[in-house]
Amino acid sequence: MTTHVLVLNGPNLGRLGSREPDVYGHQDLAALQLLLDDSAPAGFTVEVRQTDSESELIAWLHGAVDARTPVILNPAAFTHYSYGLRDAAALVTKAGVPLIEVHISNPHARETFRHTSVISGIATGVIAGFGFDGYRMALEHLARISTTL
Ligand code: DQA
Repeated sequence: MTTHVLVLNGPNLGRLGSREPDVYGHQDLAALQLLLDDSAPAGFTVEVRQTDSESELIAWLHGAVDARTPVILNPAAFTHYSYGLRDAAALVTKAGVPLIEVHISNPHARETFRHTSVISGIATGVIAGFGFDGYRMALEHLARISTTL
């Protein structure tokens, strides 16, 4: 059996590579897809998506609930204020499907408005501050719990 994992990225993350490289590094989302393809455990496929649209991100989470697809989510700036996204993410975890919140930077070491996440309270877990490696760590965790997926 193959487990498909959605790696969903919110606003401005389509600019990775050129966006604030001192904070987010020099790699873009295509590099993230390659990294996750390379590190995907046997039986796992990974699909990296990005949108600047809150409604599109919410629709993707609804799809994850319906298909019971585990999610690795970097909500980007929506992290800090989108109750609509939180409610959609809660549908995922309350259905018993894991959703891991990932941040490339460590928001707690940055501006005060980044210290609040409205997502963390309903996420399965949170990984922040490890660059792209955080996504790989999230995938590794999903593989470890794969018997329960
Ligand atoms: C981010 C942190 C957020 O505060 C910011 O708005 C982002 C990226 C991160 O991956 O470090 O866009 O989620």
